[in-house]
Amino acid sequence: MIKRAVVPGTFDPITCGHLDVIERAAGIFDELVVGVAASEHKNGVGTLFTLEERIGLVRAATAHLPHVQVDGVSGLLVDFVRAHGAAAVVKGLRALTDFEHEFQMAALNWRMDADFETLFIMAAPEYMFLSSSAVKEVARLGGRLDGLVPPQVLEPLGNRFATDGTEVLSFTG
Ligand code: PNS
Repeated sequence: MIKRAVVPGTFDPITCGHLDVIERAAGIFDELVVGVAASEHKNGVGTLFTLEERIGLVRAATAHLPHVQVDGVSGLLVDFVRAHGAAAVVKGLRALTDFEHEFQMAALNWRMDADFETLFIMAAPEYMFLSSSAVKEVARLGGRLDGLVPPQVLEPLGNRFATDGTEVLSFTG
């Protein structure tokens, strides 16, 4: 029986930390579906990249991985997991600060559908500090992004901000 897992996230944009978790999960499961959540108003703030752009960047960054597909999550994660016949959700865990939020989401998903497990992979020490919010801040302030985001994300992210840090609206990636 094929063991399939879902790695969900907003991926605005995908970072090297996300990619590390995806690569390690791909080594454990037979098939992986990366679920890119619409998350249009995460924490009351709109995403920098549209859902289609975020899916495109995750596809480009994971193109080297066989048995990994990428799909958008527009509704509930539990419905997405069920629709893809996955046995587990895999998430990366950085520090203690992630735990409370992840614990709450896992418990809520468990309450809605107890048929799959949520598994956590510890972030690699070199990526403990990384988050999509942090890389957007670095990009906005004109800092170096190599090593923080996959190579395919460097240009689209850099192009998103003008030299004065204001957001450029067109997607040039
Ligand atoms: O890495 P992120 O961006 O914090 O991931 C959050 C994500 C996408 C896993 C979460 O927002 C999610 O599952 N969204 C889908 C909608 C849903 O099911 N919400 C209820 C459970 S929190």
